[in-house]
Amino acid sequence: NGRGPRGEAVLAIDQGTSGTKALVLCPERGVIGSGAAPVRPRHLPGGRVEVDPAALLASVVDAGRRALADAGEPVAAVGLANQGETVLAWDPDSGRPLTEAIVWQDRRAEPLCAELAPYADELTHLTGLPLDPYFAAPKMAWIRRHLTREGVVTTSDAWLIHQLTGEFVTDAATAGRTQLLDLDDVAWSPRALDVFGLADERLPRVVDAAGPVGTTKAFGPELPLTGLLVDQQAALLAQDVTEPGTAKCTYGTGAFLLAQTGSRPRRGGSGLVSCVAWRLAGESSYCLDGQVYTAASAVRWLTDLGVIEGAADLDLVGSSVPDTAGVTFVPALAGLAAPWWRGDLRGSITGLGLDTAPGHLVRALCEGIAAQVASLADAVTADLGEPLTSLRVDGGLTRSALLMQTQADLLQLPVEVSALPDVTALGVGAVARMGIDPKLTVRDAVSRWRPATVYEPKIDATQAAERLGGFRSAVASLLDRAPA
Ligand code: G3P
Repeated sequence: NGRGPRGEAVLAIDQGTSGTKALVLCPERGVIGSGAAPVRPRHLPGGRVEVDPAALLASVVDAGRRALADAGEPVAAVGLANQGETVLAWDPDSGRPLTEAIVWQDRRAEPLCAELAPYADELTHLTGLPLDPYFAAPKMAWIRRHLTREGVVTTSDAWLIHQLTGEFVTDAATAGRTQLLDLDDVAWSPRALDVFGLADERLPRVVDAAGPVGTTKAFGPELPLTGLLVDQQAALLAQDVTEPGTAKCTYGTGAFLLAQTGSRPRRGGSGLVSCVAWRLAGESSYCLDGQVYTAASAVRWLTDLGVIEGAADLDLVGSSVPDTAGVTFVPALAGLAAPWWRGDLRGSITGLGLDTAPGHLVRALCEGIAAQVASLADAVTADLGEPLTSLRVDGGLTRSALLMQTQADLLQLPVEVSALPDVTALGVGAVARMGIDPKLTVRDAVSRWRPATVYEPKIDATQAAERLGGFRSAVASLLDRAPA
């Protein structure tokens, strides 16, 4: 019945950009059921990205029910991970959405951020986040100025949780993605709210990642919701990146490198985000976070152009040629985040010739993604004052041996691939278990991490520096052409 000596099975749901994945996790037997439901965000002109909130909710319910049916066993609780910086306005009485959900990749709040530029340093110091439309607050302010002043405006988790349980809450790590949370106090910052013109907003209560929030009948039987965590931080927890100085990268729609910094925030000078990793039993852990806005979404773009048939094709097409043949791809299709923070830039492909084949483009894309992650690792090293010794990785694109080998080569570090590509659900499942049993520590709740595959660098440091140099020159010429 899902109950064992070390605890009970839980339903762990990862609501992501391109779909929802759900796992039924048993402490003894691991994954005993799974379900998935796709979501198709709309990519609109002007860097706008929207999704129907009802589709997000339907995907959560659908994936959750499928996982439970697949397991065929009862569960004790539910955990919900969310995509972080996606926002909408909604009516708190009826729960009805008042706007589309504006997805984290959306760039429409760029002019608003430009207008708030005089407050940028103050906001970064207060919240740990640079002023950029990626985060929730600029989009929330944009909704208030351009769409509606009615209801509440929140990140998508608060709406989903309200739909599921009737409660009005968000977890500390998701709140930390808004640019409205005081990084030291882990409480809403009146000053940041004021700067964004959001001082009169009714905001969700900030709660710990683990603990009972309310109950839901959305998946059939009435179940307590006991785990909440933003997705990248859930992956950080599941990869057991719990010691200061360790790091993980998740290759999903975007790629996100997070390094644990312990019980104090580290405000570095390298342009990384400093934010809450999780708050458990009132104690906050912090991390440094760097982002590649387009990873799987750049692969999808290449697919939509007809160059490849899908992500599963990367290795086949890429291995048809020995190298990039001088093609350099900066896949900044939705701009560049840390350490450059130039969301206004767009991608470039240079070095094309009549002999350029699909394989060269695939290799150049893998190199472009891996080079951005290598730049993030350099920034982490600079901020922590010591180099990373390895990188734990997860996410759908880790199935590409070409991308993972390129990553190890450019990083000059072993890349340790998680046995399960989608660890976010494992992380939120772990906190959901801690939510039913407060005696469980992170160590007890997270299964012992071991890599399925380890990619060792196959080129030397000089060759790696040369290849990274080519990518960095391409970024530099983009920056030159469009000065900030
Ligand atoms: O910050 C957005 C990010 O967490 C979304 O993750 O897995 O949907 O690419 P994913």
